[in-house]
Amino acid sequence: MPAKTFYLETFGCQMNVHDSERVAGTLEARGYAAVASMQEAELILFNTCSIRDKAAQKVFDRLANARPLARQGKKFGVLGCVAQQEGEAIYKRAPHVSLVAGSASYAKLPELLQQLEAGAERVSGLGEADAAFETELTRRGNPFRAYLTIIEGCDKHCAYCVVPYTRGQERSRASGAILREASALAGLGYTEVQLLGQNVNSYRDPSPAKLNFAELLAAVGEVPGLRRVRYTTSHPRDFTPEIVAAMGRNPVLCDHVHLPVQSGSDAVLARMRRGYTRARYLELIAAIRACPRPLAVTTDLIVGFPGETDPDFEQTAELLGEVRYAGAFIFKYSPRPHTEAQAWPDDIPDERKTERLMILQQRQQQIQLEDNQAWVGREVEAMVEGRHPKLDQWSGRTSSNRVVNFSAPAPLPPLAILGQAAPAAVGLTPGAYARVLVERAGANSLVGRLTA
Ligand code: 5AD
Ligand code: SF4
Repeated sequence: MPAKTFYLETFGCQMNVHDSERVAGTLEARGYAAVASMQEAELILFNTCSIRDKAAQKVFDRLANARPLARQGKKFGVLGCVAQQEGEAIYKRAPHVSLVAGSASYAKLPELLQQLEAGAERVSGLGEADAAFETELTRRGNPFRAYLTIIEGCDKHCAYCVVPYTRGQERSRASGAILREASALAGLGYTEVQLLGQNVNSYRDPSPAKLNFAELLAAVGEVPGLRRVRYTTSHPRDFTPEIVAAMGRNPVLCDHVHLPVQSGSDAVLARMRRGYTRARYLELIAAIRACPRPLAVTTDLIVGFPGETDPDFEQTAELLGEVRYAGAFIFKYSPRPHTEAQAWPDDIPDERKTERLMILQQRQQQIQLEDNQAWVGREVEAMVEGRHPKLDQWSGRTSSNRVVNFSAPAPLPPLAILGQAAPAAVGLTPGAYARVLVERAGANSLVGRLTA
């Protein structure tokens, strides 16, 4: 049989990035080889995101542009959230697509591929999201940071959010399986593990051990060989002081909490169905700030949600100054299919949304600049991620997830690039840990020099 080749492009969140690792592993086990361009591939796959309309449109643009390749006999597949959301309607918009599968159907991928190889015109996997996608076949794309899914799906039904409809109901993995995988990853040389879920705090152990999220996190933090354990994403409704206590006890648990607030206005939070008030959220922030180890907090914000008034927006802008986030992802509201808010008028004009977005971004940049400057003169530990050949600098991340760029005193060969191992003689390779003295700071990164 001639070698089969696939090209897989991923859009969206870390869950999708990790799903793609599992899809790639599944394909390779069936004899497919990954290639770096569509031109070289027989099977072209897009793992898609539908969190905002723009993200969803991107895949249709990519599909339209690539359509001429279909005439060369290449097959196209749409995976992930747009696949789940649009289903077989994708075949109408992009008739050259022959495989459509949502993330809850990846366990069926071998079967779907077999049908496709046997000459089926179109195969779809759009089953109800009821099982976790467990596979031994993951091909991890990053040699030092491993993603590990602990819970899939989401039951929160925030008024704006498509995720419950694309990823289905919450399904947690058994704690024993998670801990075994974490140990296996440490055995393979990974020193950083990132626990993933749309809402990790509502983790519910289906096994008799019945660990809650804080207990699971603490247990993963004890796995020998792991040096950094992260988790994302947290929902304020289920975030507990017990999680903070676990982080306070064990420095292996990275000093970073991503706690999306979405809005600073109680009226907007209520319409978003977030299940907390500004005051309750600030109580959680106070609990996080009380941790003996300083923890960096980052967030997500939506501007221009239906009915967001100027005073509502001002409350969000004001919250930024109050919490002083270490980072914030700010989005313009985008109506999504199936969601409650889709039925409401999208009444904030796009120019107004853009204006609000820019105001928040500007404030946030100023806060980050000021706070990052407080790091000047201090030493941090960076996990090395790669080297910018142009800047003649190494780049890494602190436990708090800040980017640190640094020069190393010894002359370094110029050929190492992100994700590739540097020559051993240098002593510094991606995945290594370096002590860096911070000498300068910008809004988005720290800059320093290697001390050890
Ligand atoms: N419009 C804009 N932003 C959204 N997000 C989720 N749904 C929407 C939407 N419909 C944002 C939220 C979430 C992040 C992943 O994406 O801020 O936390
Ligand atoms: Fe996008 Fe949400 Fe799907 Fe992730 S889960 S790919 S953010 S729609």
